[in-house]
Amino acid sequence: MHYPWWYVPFLTAPMLIAAVAVVHVLVAHYAVGGGLFLALETQYAYRVKHKAYLEYLRGHAWFFILVTVVFGAITGVGIWWTIGLASPLATEVLIQTFVFGWAMEYVFFVLEIVSAFIFYYFWGRLPQRTHVTVGWIYAASAWMSLVLITGITAFMLNPGAWPERRTFWVGFLNPQFVPQVLARTGGSFLLASLYVYLHASIKVKDPALRNLIASRSARPALLGAVLVVLGGIGWYAFLPESARAALAAAAALNVMMVLIFAVTIAVFVMLYLGPYRNPGWLTPGFAILLFVAGLAAFSTGEFIREAVRKPYIIYNVVMGNQLRVDEIADAQRRGFLETGTWTRALVAARYPQAMRGREIDEAALLRLPEEDQRFLGRVIFQYQCNNCHAAQVGYSAVGHLMRGWSPELIRRVLDHLDESTFFMPPWTGTPEEADLLARYLTSIAFPRPGGMEPARR
Ligand code: HEC
Repeated sequence: MHYPWWYVPFLTAPMLIAAVAVVHVLVAHYAVGGGLFLALETQYAYRVKHKAYLEYLRGHAWFFILVTVVFGAITGVGIWWTIGLASPLATEVLIQTFVFGWAMEYVFFVLEIVSAFIFYYFWGRLPQRTHVTVGWIYAASAWMSLVLITGITAFMLNPGAWPERRTFWVGFLNPQFVPQVLARTGGSFLLASLYVYLHASIKVKDPALRNLIASRSARPALLGAVLVVLGGIGWYAFLPESARAALAAAAALNVMMVLIFAVTIAVFVMLYLGPYRNPGWLTPGFAILLFVAGLAAFSTGEFIREAVRKPYIIYNVVMGNQLRVDEIADAQRRGFLETGTWTRALVAARYPQAMRGREIDEAALLRLPEEDQRFLGRVIFQYQCNNCHAAQVGYSAVGHLMRGWSPELIRRVLDHLDESTFFMPPWTGTPEEADLLARYLTSIAFPRPGGMEPARR
């Protein structure tokens, strides 16, 4: 581990990534689908010379730019900020592999911003054909940035043959690429219609225009829902075995899978019965209900997609505890504290008595005062466990998971972490270091609840 560690109490750092990413994704998909909506519908409104619809589209373009360019860009930077701090090693691998892809994404991103601004601010001042063309340039570049970023994020779930042949294209065209592009494209169509409904139901007072908007956007939304389902099936089919097993094993994920099916079906039925069959149903209340249900389905989907990435952050390459798979054996032999740049420096600075020359003397660590041993155990916990567990309070806190465990049990489970739960990385350190960690864990494990003494020890 060659990076310092960012300790996020309660939430754990990956959950912070998830929180920022989910919010970002809800806007980023709208940025793609909404662009398509604006290009397509402006073209249509010009063709049928529908003045009122054009006026509505202009207002929508303003709302669209405000939400996607301002909010989307801020949360997008937020993702870089959180992944860089929370997952420096995985980010390093992504940058080394895909720097060219990211450069291209920025090119498209600039195109997006420029064309979006021209589309809105030159409204009425450009010839109709040019105006529509600018809209299509926006839509195409927004979709290209979706394709580029999806190739890179899908890589983490299943990099395919990349560990053997480490080229850009082998990584980019990974087994998850097509399914996820399909699902995200469909998701963009769907989400854009839900944003349109929300905006139009509040802004448009004329029932005829509202009906037109409702029915025009119903087909893309229904098509989007179908693409999401097809992409979802592909996603499942190309999951690595460990991810599929994690999906089946974790109770929280079981519940979420049921939830996502139920909510997606509900959204589909509401779209079909509402905007598609009865456009007049589109009241603000109905639009809000649809919007919230759509966001719930989206967020759940993103959460599941992230959560099955265990024990790897990048499958077969980077472990959930921020170590490359090929670093583990060395850390087990020479010591986790010893092989980490920052941990070795920490021990050298605080406990010179535990150093033999420039190396850490493992046995000497266990001669440190009890309190210092617990301190080093806490350091190891933060590096190796905090990616998935809070300490005593918060997400999957080990204080609760180990409630009432004896010190012996705690120490023994460290030797078998990846056996007890296959989606945990193996213990990565020496037996002495496991002793340190066990001391810390023993000090934070809550006692058994009163009246719940085990029958026999
Ligand atoms: C990649 C993520 C990940 C990492 C890293 C990780 N765990 Fe876990 N661990 C889990 C998950 C997921 C569970 C199941 C939790 C649940 O069901 O609530 C779990 C369960 C546990 C349990 C419950 C009992 C058991 O053995 O199944 C203990 C104890 C535990 N982890 C300790 C640790 C310790 C100590 C570390 C650090 C050395 C660690 N974990 C690192 C993901 C991880």
